Amino acid sequence: MYEQYWQLKEKPFQNTPDPRYLYLSGQHEDALMKLSYAVTQNMGCGMLVGVFGCGKTLLANALLNDLGRERVRFAFITSPASLEAPELLRAVVRGLSPQALPDKKSDLLADPLLEKLNTILVDNARDGKENIVIIDETHTIEDPRSFEQLRQILNFQSENKFLLTLLLFGQPELKEKVENNKPLDQRVAMRCFLSPLGEDDVDKYIRHRLKVAGRPESAEPIFDKEALKAIVKYSAGIPRRVNTLCDLVLMTGFAQKAQKAEPELISSVIKDFNLS
Ligand SMILES: Nc1ncnc2c1ncn2[C@@H]1O[C@H](COP(=O)(O)OP(=O)(O)O)[C@@H](O)[C@H]1O
Ligand SMILES: [Mg+2]
Repeated sequence: MYEQYWQLKEKPFQNTPDPRYLYLSGQHEDALMKLSYAVTQNMGCGMLVGVFGCGKTLLANALLNDLGRERVRFAFITSPASLEAPELLRAVVRGLSPQALPDKKSDLLADPLLEKLNTILVDNARDGKENIVIIDETHTIEDPRSFEQLRQILNFQSENKFLLTLLLFGQPELKEKVENNKPLDQRVAMRCFLSPLGEDDVDKYIRHRLKVAGRPESAEPIFDKEALKAIVKYSAGIPRRVNTLCDLVLMTGFAQKAQKAEPELISSVIKDFNLS
């Protein structure tokens, strides 16, 4: 659409968790390092907390890439709230095992499932694969039994080593939810946080995404200092909001044949598209 006009090979501000676009702000780098450490040092359970749109799901994908997808077996559960407690366990088993499970719920009850999981974990470990369970949007889980089930899977150990790493990702209310299950809370051995980006990071974040999308570094900046201020003000430093705004600004700028994104263009986009 507007790619050619802005000298881009692809759209730079898509709201998808594509690790190619990862901008390593200090805090993203810190979180990635800690999560990776939790896995490689066999710490059992790690937690990543941050507001909506700050990069948690993206970091999960980047982590799996960094660890090497061929070196790990992982279950990546993206909507845990839609799964009742036994279903959650089934999803974990399905992710970690290449073999299919019977489809009907009644065919596998919770206890045999735990047994099955144990076998899978041991087999994977024997094959030299790290077992990782990532629960995204963990804060959306309402059923305390699901948290209990997550705690249970941490019991799988062999020779005093955890057979899997459980990573819980979620919005700030996750902290309190996990605290309600004391034994689980006590198992969280690594805690990481993501907060919104500061102005300097938003600037670097935008430049980084434009560069990955193919904009030549020799080209004039699209967003100048004033434009950046307007973006920071609207987005409050949340990458998802930066993306939404910048995409619409590029589109509108193209329609108006603008040479760059003036602050007036940014304010008019916020108003016209009812961004709030
Ligand atoms: N550090 C980052 N580098 C590049 N893009 C990012 C970064 N953090 C967030 N994003 C982008 O912002 C959007 C929202 O990120 P996401 O990981 O879905 O947030 P969350 O899971 O915390 O709600 C995605 O398009 C993602 O690619
Ligand atoms: Mg997410």
